[in-house]
Amino acid sequence: MASVVRSGAWKALKNGSTSESFVHLHRFQTLRVRSFSATMSPPSKAVVYEQHGPPDSVTRVVELLPVEVKENDVCVRMLASPINPSDINRIEGVYPVRPQVPAVGGYEGVGEVHSVGSAVKGLLPGDRVIPSPPSFGTWQTYIVKDQSVWYKVNKESPMEYAATITVNPLTALRMLEDFVTLNSGDAIVQNGATSIVGQCIIQIARSRGIRSVNIIRDRTGSEEVKQKLRKLGADEVFTESELEVKNVKSLLAGLPEPALGFNCVGGNAASLVLKFLRQGGTMVTYGGMSKKPITVSTSSFIFKNLSLRGFWLQKWMSADKAKECRGMIDYLLDLAREGKLKYEMEVTPFDDFHIALDKALGKQGSQPKQIIKF
Ligand SMILES: NC(=O)c1ccc[n+]([C@@H]2O[C@H](COP(=O)([O-])OP(=O)(O)OC[C@H]3O[C@@H](n4cnc5c(N)ncnc54)[C@H](OP(=O)(O)O)[C@@H]3O)[C@@H](O)[C@H]2O)c1
Repeated sequence: MASVVRSGAWKALKNGSTSESFVHLHRFQTLRVRSFSATMSPPSKAVVYEQHGPPDSVTRVVELLPVEVKENDVCVRMLASPINPSDINRIEGVYPVRPQVPAVGGYEGVGEVHSVGSAVKGLLPGDRVIPSPPSFGTWQTYIVKDQSVWYKVNKESPMEYAATITVNPLTALRMLEDFVTLNSGDAIVQNGATSIVGQCIIQIARSRGIRSVNIIRDRTGSEEVKQKLRKLGADEVFTESELEVKNVKSLLAGLPEPALGFNCVGGNAASLVLKFLRQGGTMVTYGGMSKKPITVSTSSFIFKNLSLRGFWLQKWMSADKAKECRGMIDYLLDLAREGKLKYEMEVTPFDDFHIALDKALGKQGSQPKQIIKF
């Protein structure tokens, strides 16, 4: 049997027809081109970065050569994948857990099984699958990974929801359940309410009779944003500047003082969450979109006895939660299919990846979540 082992070097090829530089890459593992009987994946088109840095300058769309689909492997044709803030942070090199460069971007997504290795059980070509728990390298057209990586989801789940169901909706679910026991009629407060996590918190809370106080950034068109969030079930929505009052709790109207707060922004927006919390309340920080630190007054600790906690889904999932996590994915996808969990997304064709990336980087102001369609 002829066996050719090729190095893992990156080989650049100029594509004369476009200004984009296409690169033929060997997969990161050594590529072993076997006899014609070995099952190979189709070539894959991928967003790669060879060094950390600003995502709009270090990422390129390249072509990867086919790889072998080994006996326990599943080759998946990717359908869609989001650009999440953590994907950006991984490319920037500031996320605590990240793949070694060179790497393919992306962490969650949905695809369709293209082919399976000879020992694969329970997955067939045509099945709709997600990586669960999510794993690196979803921004490419074909992925070959061990069968244990893939979780079959209901084919009727809307594609863009299946692509995004883990990182943000699961974070919202866990944060509502894992910190404070909330009963129907209780209230929560959050900043970053326009984020996907924020939109999910509003809806999951609402479905359990939990009221929500929501804080958004000041912007033109804030009334329209408020209306959208109210339609999802938000009880109150305030811009940060509307909360520049002596006693924010006077704005609560008939709502109870929140026992639990969520902070995805930091800086002043975190202080506003703290101001709303009741005696003994808890604020959970899960994001730092403003890149500003959280400042807590001494009196909040002494006289209000507030607790500050943090949540990181990736850590939570690594604690042997894979099976449990998949059950929750089904629950969340059921909600999405029934129209009980919605969030704003914009689907962009893969060819326009860099336009979607610019939007995700905030270069065009506030934008819906960008979903790449392969
Ligand atoms: N800890 C975890 O396990 C975990 C899991 C999931 C997500 N997260 C984090 O949660 C946050 C939201 O993620 P997502 O995917 O739901 O967000 P997203 O849908 O991509 O939306 C981004 C959000 O960030 C806000 N934002 C952007 N730049 C900002 C800035 N400079 N100052 C203040 N707010 C800003 C946006 O507000 P506008 O609408 O005003 O633009 C929007 O609400 C991110 O920080 C993400 O890393 C953490």
